[in-house]
Amino acid sequence: MKATMTVIELKNNKSQKLYPITLGINKTGHLTIAGLDITELVKKYGTPLYVIDELTFRHNANEYINSLKKYYDNFLILYAAKAFACKKIFKLANEMGLGLDVVSGGELYTAIKSSFNSSNIYFHGNNKSEEELHLAIRNNTGRIVCDNFYELELLQKTALSKNKVVEILIRLTPGIECNTHEYIKTGHLDSKFGFDLEYLDEVLKFIAKAGKNLLLKGFHSHIGSQIFEIEPFADSTEILLEQFKHVKEKYKVELTELNIGGGIGIAYTKEDNPISIDEWAKIITNTIKEKCKKLGLNLPKLICEPGRSLIAPSGITIYKAGSIKQVPNGRKFISVDGGMADNPRPITYQAKYTAVVGNKMDLKEAENVTIAGKYCETGDILIKDIELPEITHDDLIVVFGTGAYNYSMSSNYNSIPRPACILVNNEKSEIIIERETYEDLLAKQK
Ligand code: LLP
Repeated sequence: MKATMTVIELKNNKSQKLYPITLGINKTGHLTIAGLDITELVKKYGTPLYVIDELTFRHNANEYINSLKKYYDNFLILYAAKAFACKKIFKLANEMGLGLDVVSGGELYTAIKSSFNSSNIYFHGNNKSEEELHLAIRNNTGRIVCDNFYELELLQKTALSKNKVVEILIRLTPGIECNTHEYIKTGHLDSKFGFDLEYLDEVLKFIAKAGKNLLLKGFHSHIGSQIFEIEPFADSTEILLEQFKHVKEKYKVELTELNIGGGIGIAYTKEDNPISIDEWAKIITNTIKEKCKKLGLNLPKLICEPGRSLIAPSGITIYKAGSIKQVPNGRKFISVDGGMADNPRPITYQAKYTAVVGNKMDLKEAENVTIAGKYCETGDILIKDIELPEITHDDLIVVFGTGAYNYSMSSNYNSIPRPACILVNNEKSEIIIERETYEDLLAKQK
């Protein structure tokens, strides 16, 4: 039996990030994940269906852990919750010794309800509310990553009123341009996130004046997401360390935590060629060691915050094909039972994805089609121009790399309930988020 070309080619892709590692094809020509036939999963759970492969998540987390262990002694890897904020995934991350980067009261609340080790939670965000800060302080959140003067004042007030010492990092804008979509760049100068370096002294004076309630541990920066090159990461790391030096010289304080954010890209198509986690770890840790030596600094604790590269390749979405439209002398549209509300990335960032026909893995590509969503927007196209075997209604279209920024960015546009999400491992599957119902859509309506 022959697997489709697409699968063979993509498995040859050097980065191998696109697929869950347990993906296979069985004797009936069906795609399998964690040893489970996707046609059986669909019978049990319906479509559209998000599927997360536990082993791939663990594998990716271990890749970060083992790579950093090889090159550096003192580090903490935070799972960036925004990629997919869900109790079960938080539990897995906690169990593996990862910390957590949260950006809202809701993500923090999910973490609390998952019994996440609170000292490993880092609270980000450019407009945290007083209520969110209260929640964080009440629950002994490990670090608050301060973004602006308004927040510093709120935080000082809250910490003082609760008589707590709050350990903080300062988010800096290093002024780094990186090559990614404009909407997911964050480290450039004209960014809404973080303090510009020229305000640093003012920040430090504020903290010094605040007294014992605010304890500065280090600096943070996050330059953007889906980044393929290493240079911007290395550059921003150096810029942060220069600020460590500045603090040491001017204030006689040696900061101990260097948080370099997340942002490592993954392959969504076979053309994508991101840096490997190991390569990234090697270069970043070398940069830190060399720069610290040059500046006469002790090696700080290294903190990083990957989201996409941990969870995106673990996820697939299974859709069912419905209507098929051949435009005379034009495209052939295959409409599926999901689209822009369960995966807003194509319409938002013109993101590209790869798909296969999961119940026809023994057939060769036969035609060029466009996979369209079912939402009432012309732009609701999941994949433009892809070679697939001939498709009929009820065929299963499986899209790869949907573990990150899919469920977490999903909506109920057109009053369509969100799909279910299941976790698979070792021939077993379990629901981790129930499929929404029409009643759920009306639950808050009067
Ligand atoms: N740390 C901070 C402070 C962040 O803002 C982000 C992502 C991360 C870590 C994790 O970055 P990652 O390793 O996942 O690239 N919705 C967009 C991505 C937005 C990312 C926002 N910040 C997308 O679908 O591409």
